[in-house]
Amino acid sequence: MASVDDDLLDAFDERTGRAAVGLWAAPGRVNLIGEHTDYNDGFVMPFALEQRVRIAAAPRDDGRWQVSSLNQGSTESFGADDLRPGMSGWQAYAAGVVWALEQAGHTIAGADLVLASDVPVGAGLSSSAALECAVLTTLADLNSLDIGLLDRARLAQRCENEFVGAPTGLMDQAASIMCTADHALFFDCRSYAADQVALDLSGAGLELLVLDTKTPHALVDSEYAARRASCEAACDVLGLAALRDIDDLDAALGRLADPVMKRRVRHVVTENDRVRQAAEALADGRIRALAPLLDASHASMRDDFEITVPPVDLAVESARAGGALGARMTGGGFGGCIIALVGTGEASGVAEQIGAAFARAGYGPPEHFVARPSAGAGRIS
Ligand code: GLA
Repeated sequence: MASVDDDLLDAFDERTGRAAVGLWAAPGRVNLIGEHTDYNDGFVMPFALEQRVRIAAAPRDDGRWQVSSLNQGSTESFGADDLRPGMSGWQAYAAGVVWALEQAGHTIAGADLVLASDVPVGAGLSSSAALECAVLTTLADLNSLDIGLLDRARLAQRCENEFVGAPTGLMDQAASIMCTADHALFFDCRSYAADQVALDLSGAGLELLVLDTKTPHALVDSEYAARRASCEAACDVLGLAALRDIDDLDAALGRLADPVMKRRVRHVVTENDRVRQAAEALADGRIRALAPLLDASHASMRDDFEITVPPVDLAVESARAGGALGARMTGGGFGGCIIALVGTGEASGVAEQIGAAFARAGYGPPEHFVARPSAGAGRIS
């Protein structure tokens, strides 16, 4: 067992005075392509990161849940009466999962949970979905619940939407629960069809750089909700259930008067197309064909959906200038991470060049790692 897991088990002993009955984990994700398409009933293609939220846990018999975060350095406790949507703080992601499970008719016994995460926070890598999915996976096992993977993802999304109050789509929770090692997940957010698409980056002489611009996500909540509202308003004008239903983009654009709404619609429709093209390319083993799709996705997010910010655009441009084959922002936007497809062994050099460009522009130093498509949520021991 890796020492990070031993440390977590030790921390559990220290905090609760007894031994954990097991260890569970759920990953953060990077989205290869398909941004702001999930809540439009469209397509996404994330993969799970090695970085994950780990939980050591054991049942309690007093009907309370006590949750300690080694990252936050705090312990929170709640009972059934405290499970009210709108709870604030990091513990809302744990309490909301108990709430969602109970709303779905499951009976959840009390438990002690001690958590540790190495998923970067506020970087667009779904640290909160990783937390929700880790808690859900742990509680499902502790309570011997028979819940399929898709339903697990949807329960975690319900926690995010209805308990935490963020109007997000299903991508992050689907990725954290359903991804498998060495694959990306080509996911249809309407039919819930989930295809595991082989992603052998090193076999193709490539690696995927993830670079965190460390840009504060100040506007993300309000702007995310505004983008979603704009998509829904366009559907109302067009008389469609979802932007996914647009077959003829030019005809749809011709029926919209508002230039901003037209741009939002064009992003979603063209992005869905790019995800499908990316899935076809990967199915054919043409990984390099991802590169121009990443570039086009970034341009669409920058110019049409307007969710990038100057440091993110600079990072993408510098990545390309530094030799990346293609690059784009990943995640909800307004800061966070970019991804860049680079040759094997080139990630650090490209990251250095981005760092130099950041220093010249007066931005703080970014951080980076090489992403490896990893397994979804599960029990570790
Ligand atoms: C956030 C949301 C997802 C998705 C992305 C944008 O990560 O949680 O549901 O909408 O933004 O693609």
